Amino acid sequence: MNERDSEIIAQILSDGGYVETSDIENTDLILLNTCSIRAKAEQKVMSQLGALRKAKMARPKMQICVAGCVAQQEGKKIREKMPHVDLVIGTQNIYEIDKLLKRSAVEGPIIATNLDDNYSIPQFIPDYNDAKQTNTFRKFVTIMQGCNNFCTYCVVPYTRGREVSRSVKDIVEEVQTLVNSGVIEITLLGQNVNSYAQSNTVTEDGSPYSFAKLLREVAKVEGLKRLRFTTSNPKDLSDELMSCFKEIDILCPQFHLPVQAGSDRILKKMNRKYNSLGYLTLVDTLRKYCPEIAITTDIIVGFPGETDEDFEKTMKLLETVKYHGSFSFKYSDRPGTMANNFENKVDEQVKSQRLTRFQKRQDEISLERNQEYIGLTKEILLERISDEEVMGRTSTNHIVHARGITDKNIGDFIDVSITDAGQHSLRGVIL
Ligand code: 5AD
Ligand code: SF4
Repeated sequence: MNERDSEIIAQILSDGGYVETSDIENTDLILLNTCSIRAKAEQKVMSQLGALRKAKMARPKMQICVAGCVAQQEGKKIREKMPHVDLVIGTQNIYEIDKLLKRSAVEGPIIATNLDDNYSIPQFIPDYNDAKQTNTFRKFVTIMQGCNNFCTYCVVPYTRGREVSRSVKDIVEEVQTLVNSGVIEITLLGQNVNSYAQSNTVTEDGSPYSFAKLLREVAKVEGLKRLRFTTSNPKDLSDELMSCFKEIDILCPQFHLPVQAGSDRILKKMNRKYNSLGYLTLVDTLRKYCPEIAITTDIIVGFPGETDEDFEKTMKLLETVKYHGSFSFKYSDRPGTMANNFENKVDEQVKSQRLTRFQKRQDEISLERNQEYIGLTKEILLERISDEEVMGRTSTNHIVHARGITDKNIGDFIDVSITDAGQHSLRGVIL
């Protein structure tokens, strides 16, 4: 989501006459697009801002702008701590960035962080020639913003506001534009894509709609070769959506399904609204519809009150599902969330031990999973070509390094035979 926002900001600035530079000494603008999902990400922003104080003193005309979730959450507190910041711009305000920067140059510092419950995402047509210019054939398209779920550990409902879905027409138009410019793989993005169209109407006649319908519609765009999406909250995962994996041939057999914890007691305290049994049933159903599907997840260890017994349930779930991969984090207190006030916070050291144990086992399982591909022929989308090796991704989103020479180009498909497997990638030969 942040990456896509960064692209949008970059394009707005480029349309406004800015040119990207790596010359920090002489630049007119430094912009930090920020994430506040865990405390570490936020601390990094603050220390980067602190380091810019001197440069601003030396060149007062250079503008410093903070965008994204930290900007949204902290607002004017950022300027209280870092008075050399010129513009603090929230998650719903990025489309005005050029205007606000120009205004701030004349009028002085601006804080623009209003969050509107009735926000509608402006239609933003991407740069038409982007794919060919930058050799980027895979792109993200935001289909919704915000979240109404209020998982007790999470800042997103506070930093991105209420859930709002873009219209089907706007999304299809954006996908079509990207495909016309040479993009062949699209990932549809939202905090919880499963509840697409549930909070506002997305059709011109106001008729009810669903994410599964959107997938079918986007899949019709001629020239699109691969379609993915992220992220899904298990509580809203419908049979209609799961069955799409059987129906839509360009839908890639890959599913990121964050579980967060294996203990029902902890899931309840997290306000996730599903239990481990329900979750496992979803995994079985996905595998029934699409046996080759690669399932990944997110895990939080050390949520307040998590006992050794609770953590063992997370480990057990890992053994049961045998995820292809996972992202795992130590619980991090976030201001304004419910869990911030929960008792029985878990000791940092215990959290670290649990994280290490989880990650070690996941690495072993990822390796076992990856070994299952040895001997198979897979189609990869080429991302890099060098003298004797290419790199690309399978439809299951595995990175493959394959030896051999090809006359194909970046953005083409090529068949490879998988010969070796590591924890995080596969090796093969070009066929
Ligand atoms: N502490 C640790 N991890 C968190 N995540 C979200 N909030 C927190 C937090 N307070 C993780 C969840 C989510 C992923 C994007 O980040 O696992 O799925
Ligand atoms: Fe955060 Fe939960 Fe919303 Fe995901 S579903 S963004 S974890 S509140």
